[in-house]
Amino acid sequence: MIPQYLVDFDLSALPMVETDVLVIGSGIAGLFTAIRASEHNRVLMITKKSLLESNTRYAQGGIAAVIAEDDSPAYHLQDTLVAGAGLCRPEAVEALVNEGPDGVKELIRLGTLFDVENGELALTQEGAHSHRRILHANGDATGYEIVRALAAQASEHPGIEVWDEHFVIDLITDHGECVGALVQKPDDSQVFVKARATVLCSGGAGQLYRYTTNPEVATADGVAMAYRAGAVIRDMEFIQFHPTSLCYPGAPRFLVSEAVRGEGAYLRNIKGERFMERYHAQLELAPRDIVARAIVSEMETTNSTFVYLDITHEPAEMIKHRFPTIYETCMRYGLDMTTDWIPVAPAAHYMMGGVKTDLNGESSIGRLFACGEVSSTGVHGANRLASNSLSEAIVFGHRIVERIQSLPMLNSTQVGSPLQRSRENEIMSGQQPISERRLRLQKMMVRQVGLRRNGVHLQEAMDKLRSEMNIFDHVLTHKEEMEYANLLTCAWLVTSGALHRQESRGAHYREDFPLRDDAVWQKHSLQQREQAIVEELMS
Ligand code: SIN
Repeated sequence: MIPQYLVDFDLSALPMVETDVLVIGSGIAGLFTAIRASEHNRVLMITKKSLLESNTRYAQGGIAAVIAEDDSPAYHLQDTLVAGAGLCRPEAVEALVNEGPDGVKELIRLGTLFDVENGELALTQEGAHSHRRILHANGDATGYEIVRALAAQASEHPGIEVWDEHFVIDLITDHGECVGALVQKPDDSQVFVKARATVLCSGGAGQLYRYTTNPEVATADGVAMAYRAGAVIRDMEFIQFHPTSLCYPGAPRFLVSEAVRGEGAYLRNIKGERFMERYHAQLELAPRDIVARAIVSEMETTNSTFVYLDITHEPAEMIKHRFPTIYETCMRYGLDMTTDWIPVAPAAHYMMGGVKTDLNGESSIGRLFACGEVSSTGVHGANRLASNSLSEAIVFGHRIVERIQSLPMLNSTQVGSPLQRSRENEIMSGQQPISERRLRLQKMMVRQVGLRRNGVHLQEAMDKLRSEMNIFDHVLTHKEEMEYANLLTCAWLVTSGALHRQESRGAHYREDFPLRDDAVWQKHSLQQREQAIVEELMS
């Protein structure tokens, strides 16, 4: 049903550009991998917007790493495994907790300025972490600071060429190996980029949902193109909803960092009652899925579309100093978090599953790597521990670059099959506008494949998705059409994974199967184009 390529093309007739390493995406994973890879390779980095626009840029809370004297990698390992609800790959988590601190040192060497207190790196606490181990920058602008520092390095580096406003349509494979990608240029012409290694760093899929903390660019392009290319995709049913995004008329669903609760904020329902004690012993710092579902329950019982986040009992100066971005954003809408309770509600935030990789970040397709949110390294399991994603990107970015060094050169005749199938249907004119179809999909995903799921709704969602699949028979020319096709592909993967998994675990909650069932379901779900879902036992 979903074809191998989104568009028709004749590779032999297209202009070709050659590079050693093609990096797709410009968040922390893309920037860090490009910078490290450029030490020994020519690197071409492609971003569909600009170096400064990615999910990373909006990361607030920070980056988790064992720095404090009273902390240890064993504690970080344990916290990550508990949050991951039995689906983490322990070797991947070990790599994360042991190599994360060196990765942080590398970020500092590359110019990132983390916050310092009394001459030491400042550390905060977030949900489900047993110790203070979250580094941050400019209070709550950690992602922006990392992107600023790395983008400055990347854009000045002679070994890194950056193409912004370019859209990667598809990966090109030949004899089971990835040999590069088909790219649409800003003038809509196409070019074949041939590469010895291709690294997907294209981020997540927040735009699958009507309410998300992710920017517009998070349209699941990487996971969709890897699926079309035949890569194994793992655990897509696990979508994390952040418990607290701003929910106020006229305001965007702006992230209100978990670190606000880490610094003492309470959750209150609209009657003003604190409620987390009814749901979990760790109260406001319980795992994210529990907090998010507790909020939805309170919203339902009080007939409200939000709950409140209250940090008014903490000193005003501390709040402004620690959370300047959140403070200023709320003030823009007339909300003063030092004196007002902030209305918040859950929003889609992070995709735990993705392109299955080994411990070197390599996918099931040779020469194709995945790093950051697009990947499923095994670090996050069924539920990501807060602030582990930035650390994962640098640890696995480093490992990917090491692995690329040992890749043989491409055979000079390896260029992918020249002519792809020709579509008979017309261009998309006459159809409902893509923006409306995208909005309809996002609303359906919230209602039927959201925080709480059940078999009936999931089956209905599958039927609706199936009826949209005719898009793949049309000639797609605009980026927005291709993004929609990618979202649709990812929605299919998430929904079919959720329907398949008949239990509740981590971020995946089934009302009709409310318990975790380790005897039957402590395993991964794998999806591959033209094949039924298979289950993979834990290693
Ligand atoms: C936050 O600041 O709450 C987001 C951190 C994360 O999702 O890791």
